[in-house]
Amino acid sequence: MKQDKKFIKKKFDKIVKRYDIVNLIASFGQDKIWRKKVANILKNVSSPLLDICCGPYTLTLQIFKKNKKEIFALDFSFGMLLYGKKRITRTSIYPVCGDAEVLPFKDEIFGGISIAFGLRNLPNKEIALKEFYRVLKKGGILIILEFSLPTHRIFKTLYQIYLKNYLPFLGWLLTGDKTAYLYLVESIQKFSSSEKIKELLINSGFNKVEHISLTMGIVSLYTAYKN
Ligand SMILES: C[S@@+](CC[C@H](N)C(=O)[O-])C[C@H]1O[C@@H](n2cnc3c(N)ncnc32)[C@H](O)[C@@H]1O
Repeated sequence: MKQDKKFIKKKFDKIVKRYDIVNLIASFGQDKIWRKKVANILKNVSSPLLDICCGPYTLTLQIFKKNKKEIFALDFSFGMLLYGKKRITRTSIYPVCGDAEVLPFKDEIFGGISIAFGLRNLPNKEIALKEFYRVLKKGGILIILEFSLPTHRIFKTLYQIYLKNYLPFLGWLLTGDKTAYLYLVESIQKFSSSEKIKELLINSGFNKVEHISLTMGIVSLYTAYKN
């Protein structure tokens, strides 16, 4: 499947209204727990914070609940930012429409950066990670939440069946767009291993790079620091 930025942007613009509900049903409610873990880590991190590939502010709002300071929320889908706009009134969340690979910020301004289910979509991960490193303050933390594949053989087989059969059907049923969810399945299967992601982080300058597996390994949470 063709997966350039234009295609990805169009797909996210199209599914925006049902984005959160599909996540909730498809993950059996686990997605909230995953994002809460990120928010807890960022609880005492110095502001401003940056949430990259923020979508309709799904993670941004969870972070804001724990850390009521300035959070910049960046996404290249204007549809996503606009749809979620009413959720961020009376908060200090500032939307920014921009590309994660070319961040429109000065060097070393953010105390913490998060990106949930976004890295997978970026065609040039090395460039993106170097950009994240550039805008992070010294001592700042980067948190990545991303899909991964389980290592347990039987669970992996069941998960593959779920990905190939149930998820595109559910996506089609709720959003009317099956290709967006076929893209999701393909991007999960193609996404690099956690060891590769850790290597990319180290090569981009980060240190203290760690990761934990969540929900039998279907999601991984990475933390990395700028010294
Ligand atoms: C799967 S959603 C994740 C939304 C949110 N972070 C969450 O936790 O649910 C991925 C988001 O990344 C955005 N995105 C994809 N590629 C991007 C890029 N190059 N620059 C900025 N945003 C991008 C999409 O528009 C979409 O809103």
